[in-house]
Amino acid sequence: MAAEKKDIDWGSLGFAYQPTDYSYVCNYKDGAWEEGGLTTDHTLTLSECAGIFHYCQEVFEGLKAYTTKDGDIVCFRPDLNASRMADSARRIVMPPFPEDKFIEAVKMVVKANEAWVPPFGSGATLYVRPFMVATGEVIGVAPADEYQFRILVTPVGPYYSGGVKPVAVKVPEYDRAAPHGTGAIKAGLNYAMSLYPSVQAHAEGFADNMFLDPMTHTYVEESGGANFLFVDQDGTLVVPQSHTDSILPSITRRSLVTVARDMLGMTVVERPVEFAEVQAGAFVECGMCGTAAVISPVGKVVNGDEEIVFGEGGMEHVGPVMQKLRETLTGIQAGEIEGPEGWIVKV
Ligand code: PLP
Ligand code: COI
Repeated sequence: MAAEKKDIDWGSLGFAYQPTDYSYVCNYKDGAWEEGGLTTDHTLTLSECAGIFHYCQEVFEGLKAYTTKDGDIVCFRPDLNASRMADSARRIVMPPFPEDKFIEAVKMVVKANEAWVPPFGSGATLYVRPFMVATGEVIGVAPADEYQFRILVTPVGPYYSGGVKPVAVKVPEYDRAAPHGTGAIKAGLNYAMSLYPSVQAHAEGFADNMFLDPMTHTYVEESGGANFLFVDQDGTLVVPQSHTDSILPSITRRSLVTVARDMLGMTVVERPVEFAEVQAGAFVECGMCGTAAVISPVGKVVNGDEEIVFGEGGMEHVGPVMQKLRETLTGIQAGEIEGPEGWIVKV
């Protein structure tokens, strides 16, 4: 029997946290992961000397659970979140959480919170946030020897307040990540780096930043919470690549490359994109993509006194390619369009 849904005005949800019924928790001790399971305790009590507080050993993921038009609850490509989280963990010397156990844990916690999964067509989704912190005590600079993996879930609406309306971004004066540093993993430390420019951008009325490559400041990298996509004059989807290994490999972006190429028959080019090309008006559409962002159209980018508006739509209309990509991706996630095998996982 399906759980009775919570009494929530799903359509007016923003991107904010509210505790649900259950979280998932699993501890790592004496060199091994324990069994793990559900908890109703949404707090953590840790030693003041826990590694997370001093040397920032924390990695996380973000995925969503959707209600399909048939009423099933599904997740989108959780295997890729599992493997990216393991990569992130290894890079900052944390024990990777087993990938099959990750998928089981996601299913378990989503199922237990079925009443919180927004209904089909509501515009909202259940955001799933797996994360892992160093709980063991360390005082000299070193990795800890105890960790906790948790998953919290919370119902959310759009990440960028424009929703599907175009937003503006700015080129900040700060970098998000170091060249060949940790920009390509999903670790909280990267987000700490981006907070100051992010608060500045918001205060100036921008939805996010367009970070340039941290070595030469000539190539487009990503925003604080999403990857960029461009469409050139010929209708080619141009996807920025990093030459300094500092862009997070977005699962949404990788999926859209497949959707564009294999389902929509588009030409897709993945290559470093110079900001000078953006300035020269090479692109008629721009968007930001990610789990939280879905696909948010970017109407303009501001670089100091310079303002670059994308295509004819600018800040007024979503371009046709971003629109089509968004419809196709969300259609796959909602079970209305058949996607490639294995993308949709029933909980
Ligand atoms: N880039 C950054 C910095 C992010 O935080 C995110 C969000 O996860 C993304 C890109 C998009 O990645 P994904 O599509 O896997 O959610
Ligand atoms: C996500 O899209 O899942 C993210 O983690 C982005 C975050 C900035 C909310």
